[in-house]
Amino acid sequence: MTAQKRLGILTSGGDAPGLNAAIRALARTAMNRYGMEVIGIEQGYRGLIENRYRIMGEQDISGILPRGGTILGASREKPFKDSEWRTADGSGAVESIKKNYKDLRLDCLAVLGGNGSQTTANLLTQEGLHVIGIPKTIDNDIAHNDMSFGFHTAVDIATEAVDRLHTTAASHNRVMIIEVMGHKAGWLALYAGIAGGSDIIIIPEIPYRIEAITAHLQARKKQGKNFSVITIAEGARSYAERDMSKKALRESRKGMTGSIGYRLAAEITAASGAEARVTVLGYVQRGGTPSGYDRILATGFGAAAATFAAKNRYGVMAALQEGMIKPVPLTKVADKIKKVPKDHPMILTAYDIGTCFADTAY
Ligand code: F6P
Repeated sequence: MTAQKRLGILTSGGDAPGLNAAIRALARTAMNRYGMEVIGIEQGYRGLIENRYRIMGEQDISGILPRGGTILGASREKPFKDSEWRTADGSGAVESIKKNYKDLRLDCLAVLGGNGSQTTANLLTQEGLHVIGIPKTIDNDIAHNDMSFGFHTAVDIATEAVDRLHTTAASHNRVMIIEVMGHKAGWLALYAGIAGGSDIIIIPEIPYRIEAITAHLQARKKQGKNFSVITIAEGARSYAERDMSKKALRESRKGMTGSIGYRLAAEITAASGAEARVTVLGYVQRGGTPSGYDRILATGFGAAAATFAAKNRYGVMAALQEGMIKPVPLTKVADKIKKVPKDHPMILTAYDIGTCFADTAY
């Protein structure tokens, strides 16, 4: 008789709507279809370092499909980077992970996470662990994957916010700036901006020029539109900052108070005299119940990952590609970010309908 396979699950990085739907599908498929034992690791890689886990049964995953957050808890622990981490016996985080993986008799570890977590998953694969990734992030910036779960819900939330800002902007003839998440990639700003009909969309991939913004606001005024809504990603940069290193950027923004949305508001007021108000949407973008689409996507990823585990397909991430979920080597995903291409169809569509990306030099 062959021993029952043991599958560990952890959720790593910032949480995203759909994590519980993915955990449910993964655990159900693994337990019921393939007869595996499922171990839930608490708080991402930190739980694996500290050996915090629970053996999961049907009762753990019942009723969790519509729930936001993650029943396993999450952390941003980076075991290959947090080298100061030491166990009581003096060994390092990676050694501790390897030991606990072995002691728990895991055959495979499913990592539900974003870019950084998949990079760690790849490094653990190189350390000899059997790892399968599942792409999760509201930023939708995981390489070789068309859509990560959490993104669709976040777009809905941000779109509603843009809608609401529109009516108050129109009432008061104001420029409303909404800052959404997305440090390196502007997918969320782009999609919510288009869905909410933002007049100007600013993403990290297209550095903004203040002259382009004031010219667009002026052009709208000429059309009798005395208000405007601007959607900006938190990681946006001005044209002057476009090639700066992280360190140089930090240095040049030293005196700046508040996030990029506030800085843009001050720049607009200084350049045009227009009154600009800022809303930073923040963590509401990640919280709460997942959309129907994200539940479906997360369910598909979870079930596919369990099947990969059953077939001993390790060192891969379940990826959505042209409507199909396929295994993609973690080596291809690690250390990469899927940015918005400047000629992405939705960018071109937005240009077509007159959306400004603040990139044209006037
Ligand atoms: O990882 C997704 C994300 O939502 C980013 O867009 C955002 O910048 C980040 O998480 C912030 O999360 P935390 O404060 O939890 O690190």
